[in-house]
Amino acid sequence: MNCFALSGGRRLLGEITVQGSKNSALPLIAACLLNKGKCVIHDCPDLSDVRAAVDILNCLGCDASFSDGTVICNSSFADKHIIPEYLMHKMRSSVIFLGSMISTLKKAILSYPGGCEIGARPIDIHIESLKKLGVDILECENHLTCITNGIIPERIVLPFPSVGATENIMLVAAVSNGQTIIENAAKEPEIVDLQGFLNSMGADITGAETGRIIINGVGTLRDTEYKVIPDRIAAATFMCAALATDGEIVLNNVRCDHLDAVTNALRKSGAKIQENKSWMSIKRGKYFSGIGSLETEVYPAFPTDAQPALTACLAVADGKTVLREKIFTDRFRHVPYMNNMGADIKVFGDTAEINGVSELKGDMLLAHELRGGAALVIAGLCAKGQSTVGNINFIDRGYESLEKTFRSLGADIQRI
Ligand code: UD1
Repeated sequence: MNCFALSGGRRLLGEITVQGSKNSALPLIAACLLNKGKCVIHDCPDLSDVRAAVDILNCLGCDASFSDGTVICNSSFADKHIIPEYLMHKMRSSVIFLGSMISTLKKAILSYPGGCEIGARPIDIHIESLKKLGVDILECENHLTCITNGIIPERIVLPFPSVGATENIMLVAAVSNGQTIIENAAKEPEIVDLQGFLNSMGADITGAETGRIIINGVGTLRDTEYKVIPDRIAAATFMCAALATDGEIVLNNVRCDHLDAVTNALRKSGAKIQENKSWMSIKRGKYFSGIGSLETEVYPAFPTDAQPALTACLAVADGKTVLREKIFTDRFRHVPYMNNMGADIKVFGDTAEINGVSELKGDMLLAHELRGGAALVIAGLCAKGQSTVGNINFIDRGYESLEKTFRSLGADIQRI
């Protein structure tokens, strides 16, 4: 099993280009089924999740490939409607194939999705929404069998603005006969990107930024070529790493507007952040302190996926921060490792109280999930001495060669 071996204490200095967004690329790859033709998607990050999504397309009868950041898919002959269990378990986003399979193949058989263990990740909102749109769903042991004779356009009010459920509804309704409206829809940038991708194929979807999405179903979709948005969570991770190590970095390929909640939080810590249209720079300012209190919430509030990296960063800031995790129930699994390194973080249910310490010391660390794993790497980079981070297969799900990026900024980190 691979792990990272790192020697902390070096300031991160330099310039990097942020990868394309994983959370955007995966639904776009699932949407390739919809046009029964050719899709070319640029700037897909080279991650195990992206490769698994391409494998799923091929399992469904598409001719799909991934190289040099570009996914090319011809879905003209897709005719299989079963996703094998081993592929479903590779990632959470496999559930997004449900929408595009039902839309194109009228039938989908799949098991419950895998993904990171960060608390309960039910799919009841997906299922209820699809049922309202005329999909018959049979839940049997670990499998879902979904069949439709045709999508019935509806007005759907989501009980929670679930990102995944919003994506599945968009995928099902894009090719249909009539108007579907999603109220209380998710507003994340990845939803706006999916709308952009589907519209580039000829779909008629509006409102993705507003929480009220109007989908006027169209009969068929055409070929398309599209570029994925930059990864806001990877950017947030590098911003936190720069501050934690007292570094100074420039990030290229960022959408600063997607990072407002992160930059606002980090500015409270004293960070000096310069923003331009597609790049930003970050370093510590006159002080580096805790930020009072902060909650993770749906976009445009602070993203749950950036919470672990922020925790690592503020563990070495002066003073106190109280972080409340409102999206996922089990998202502080990195904290005991940080405390073993000398951090002072107390977890009470969904809340972590971080009392900054002047220094962490290296330790043997184990990733239990993607973002928590990256946070442990940040902790190791700013700690004194040697650390190892095990289970880095979790980290590889979301970061393109994380060690190479950190090495290019001067870190001493190896994959062994
Ligand atoms: C979540 C993040 C998304 C991120 C993705 C990958 C939020 C709101 N969503 O999306 O930004 O890109 O992880 O890391 O931050 N829920 C239900 N029933 C459902 C679906 C969800 O109860 O059918 C609950 C979940 O338990 C969770 C919350 O809703 O508490 C967020 O779910 P959702 O947005 O659907 O999660 P993902 O699509 O995985």
